[in-house]
Amino acid sequence: MTTLSEKLHVQPGETTRAPSADLPAPSAPVLSVRDVRISDRAGDREIVHGVSFSLTPGRAVGIVGESGSGKTLTCRAALGILPAHFEVTDGSIEIDGRDITHLSQTQWTALRGATISAVFQDPASYLNPSIRVGVQVAEVIRVKKGVRRREARRQAIDLLRAVHLRDPELVYGQYSFELSGGMLQRVLIAAAIAAGPRILIADEATTALDVTVQAEILDLLADLREQTGLALVVVSHDLAVVAQLCDEVLVLRQGEVVEQGPTRQVLHDPRHEYTRLLIAEHEQYGLEKFLVPKEDA
Ligand SMILES: Nc1ncnc2c1ncn2[C@@H]1O[C@H](COP(=O)(O)OP(=O)(O)OP(=O)(O)O)[C@@H](O)[C@H]1O
Ligand SMILES: [Mg+2]
Repeated sequence: MTTLSEKLHVQPGETTRAPSADLPAPSAPVLSVRDVRISDRAGDREIVHGVSFSLTPGRAVGIVGESGSGKTLTCRAALGILPAHFEVTDGSIEIDGRDITHLSQTQWTALRGATISAVFQDPASYLNPSIRVGVQVAEVIRVKKGVRRREARRQAIDLLRAVHLRDPELVYGQYSFELSGGMLQRVLIAAAIAAGPRILIADEATTALDVTVQAEILDLLADLREQTGLALVVVSHDLAVVAQLCDEVLVLRQGEVVEQGPTRQVLHDPRHEYTRLLIAEHEQYGLEKFLVPKEDA
């Protein structure tokens, strides 16, 4: 069975980059996606028809849209993990000002985890059921930061505490089947932020969780964003999730961005019929409670 560090594409000896004179200014975008098109070579069809957004530290962008609209493919392109026969056929993706569309595998593994990281739905599938969860997080830290086991354990416990797991030392020694879905997602978030990435992609990260736990995880992401300047890409089919967390929202439909703008503007004054439909669908689930009245804007 693959280990968590393998699934997170972590390579030995990768360390977080020390600040250097040639790093872009703090307000420069950490992630720039410009008119990205993604095609499936197998079926010779274009699936994503031009997505653009830019993310500075501490900001959050949301991608919403129906199933199959290309949300996950867009994220996977930014992480350099497109499925086998998919490729970025046009546009550019820059991480920290560096074009990543033609990076080698070695260059990719140096970026992943340390600069850009991700959490997906179904955290249990990323953990080995026969190894204590804390040991798996510690292993990511050991490999990523090149520290000794004892130090990795200490840092793992600190991280489990940072993601608001009560009694982190107890959780450290537990197995994935002993933890709830919300606790598992916190463990995965801990592993994802272990190497201090600047960008975190959360692709339907709270979808499988019940509403209360979902709200707690969203609060955690908001805290991380505020406290560490983490930039977030939040993918959800649930507009309420995006409304709560994001500054800007993109509405994708069949690989096309049908609407894009500041979250407040898109939700209060949708221009596209499809966005209106999404909002109408969500109103019954209480989207309005996340919408700040326009006067307060
Ligand atoms: N590994 C793959 N192999 C073949 N086709 C794929 C693969 N991944 C995605 N696709 C196709 O690409 C399109 C976009 O998929 P994507 O996973 O990006 O959608 P999504 O917006 O994330 O949907 P969902 O809300 O269901 O997660 C879909 O039509 C899907 O059929
Ligand atoms: Mg998806």
